[in-house]
Amino acid sequence: MKALILVGGFGTRLRPLTLSVPKPLVDFANKPMILHQIEALKAIGVTEVVLAINYQPEVMLNFLKDFEAKLGIKITCSQETEPLGTAGPLALARDKLVDKSGDPFFVLNSDVISEYPLKEMIQFHKSHGGEASIMVTKVDEPSKYGVVVMDESSGQVERFVEKPKLFVGNKINAGIYLLNPSVLDLIELRPTSIEKEVFPKIAAEKKLYAMVLPGFWMDIGQPRDYISGLRLYLDSLRKQLSPKLASGANVIGNVLVDESAKIGDGCLIGPDVAIGPGCVIESGVRLSHCTVMRGVRIKKHACISSSIIGWHSTVGQWARVENMTILGEDVHVGDEVYSNGGVVLPHKEIKNSILNPEIVISIPALSRTSA
Ligand code: GDD
Ligand code: MG
Repeated sequence: MKALILVGGFGTRLRPLTLSVPKPLVDFANKPMILHQIEALKAIGVTEVVLAINYQPEVMLNFLKDFEAKLGIKITCSQETEPLGTAGPLALARDKLVDKSGDPFFVLNSDVISEYPLKEMIQFHKSHGGEASIMVTKVDEPSKYGVVVMDESSGQVERFVEKPKLFVGNKINAGIYLLNPSVLDLIELRPTSIEKEVFPKIAAEKKLYAMVLPGFWMDIGQPRDYISGLRLYLDSLRKQLSPKLASGANVIGNVLVDESAKIGDGCLIGPDVAIGPGCVIESGVRLSHCTVMRGVRIKKHACISSSIIGWHSTVGQWARVENMTILGEDVHVGDEVYSNGGVVLPHKEIKNSILNPEIVISIPALSRTSA
């Protein structure tokens, strides 16, 4: 089987992290987002993943080359010369997706995280005999998503409404599809939205079916949802009794610590924390609801909550970093500095406290990643 991951878009809502790498390569729970998806696809027998890209394809492909060999899966790229939306890329990649087997193929939004129940989805797809299956999940704020109105017992979709202004229901498109090759006949090679132009058509023909996704789900394309997503992801690891979770007197709740990270004495870590490779957490540090990416140093007695600390940054001693502070790559927060919701661009030094949520713009120094 084959799969296509929609990797386009500039990831503006996840800046400043996406100033260093394309959104799918931003680490989530110590692993680039897209690897969670590729591993799940590989696990159910997908042999080839096509990345539909309109931005920085070299960076993505160079990175994923290593994983092609490690995971034993073919990863290719389908590059747009202009952004083709969420459906156009399928028309562009047609020859890569369809072969004589006539098998359906998966399509994934690159920023959704879940337990990826793809095996169950294949069974569901076979059982209903329609043309397309989509996963749906319940959310409190459906207006940010594509809303699906369906027959509860058969799963047949009656209506698909992208980002409705008025309430139509609370089951939303989770961004995971299984499509028969015949769906490609409905898509032209031009910028098109699968949500606005293709799904409503298939629904009108009564050939679109929705399966309620078991387990957690989150679109982690913006900081607040990214942090909530980490909580749900770690909770799901706990339910699976995963040996990956840390334990010990200094750990509260669900915590992921890369084996190469060093944690000092008297720290209190958790709940809902991910600490990446090569990090140094000095003594007496307090961390909760946060992600600390590869190569970060947190100095003595610093306290970090509800924040994301980008690659190779440092946080000074007795500093306090909280309330959706997002530090880009290689940011240095001084000793005793307070950050309340600061969003700091890469390669910046923060010497003064940020008292209210604001974006701190740096004068771009030589960027390590773009050099
Ligand atoms: N290749 C390519 N080209 N990919 C694109 C393009 C493009 O022009 N535009 C968007 N994408 C990719 C994004 O990178 C993302 O993986 C996916 O398509 C969806 O785009 P988003 O920008 O993240 O859309 P959204 O989050 O507002 O809404 C979508 O996802 C929701 C679930 O998270 C829709 O599919 C909704 O219906 C859905 O509920
Ligand atoms: Mg999204």
